[in-house]
Amino acid sequence: MKILAICGSLRKKSTNMGLLRYAQTIAPAGMEISIADLSAMPFYNADITEKPVAVVALLNQIANADAFIFGCTEYNYSLAPALKNALDWASREPENKLLSGKAVALMGAGGGMGTSRAQYHMRQTCVFLNLHPLNKPEVFVNAFANTFDAEGNLTDEKIKANTQAQLVALAEWVNTLKKQ
Ligand SMILES: Cc1cc2nc3c(=O)[nH]c(=O)nc-3n(C[C@H](O)[C@H](O)[C@H](O)COP(=O)(O)O)c2cc1C
Repeated sequence: MKILAICGSLRKKSTNMGLLRYAQTIAPAGMEISIADLSAMPFYNADITEKPVAVVALLNQIANADAFIFGCTEYNYSLAPALKNALDWASREPENKLLSGKAVALMGAGGGMGTSRAQYHMRQTCVFLNLHPLNKPEVFVNAFANTFDAEGNLTDEKIKANTQAQLVALAEWVNTLKKQ
């Protein structure tokens, strides 16, 4: 099972990227998690008719993924643009074939609400993209409560266990969707 993780934050010490890195290290048997590099992605613009290298690379990774994990960084009560931009690019392929029907797990680290507002906005976007977000367990992390070290690595044992449980549920969810 190939999972592509996409992060809404571009900064080096990103806690959301830290969550995705942690997920990568504890993927259940049979699940392989790779993490997209959005650092060179241009903003979607319909005038860009020849896709830049970074866009082609991302679209290939998305095409090859069975499912996704979105690191839902929250900016100003909603989704950070880097993640939304990646989905905007992918959504422009014919018939939305890169995304439609695939499973998603949402996680995020931010202020006291743990990116819940961004994650619920993402669930709305998933409706239009026909992505299928896993309902539970939800992973909402307060990034300012000694949950990460200075490099953005996850250190909190409770969040680690929650993340692990979400990945197990994601594997089951992917298999459930395949049967439909
Ligand atoms: C422009 C901007 C807006 C932000 N707005 C919110 C917000 O609405 N809710 C929230 O929980 N955190 C907000 N934050 C704080 C971020 O959640 C925090 O900086 C977090 O560490 C960013 O994720 P990262 O560590 O993966 O880069 C904001 C940060 C920035 C830079």
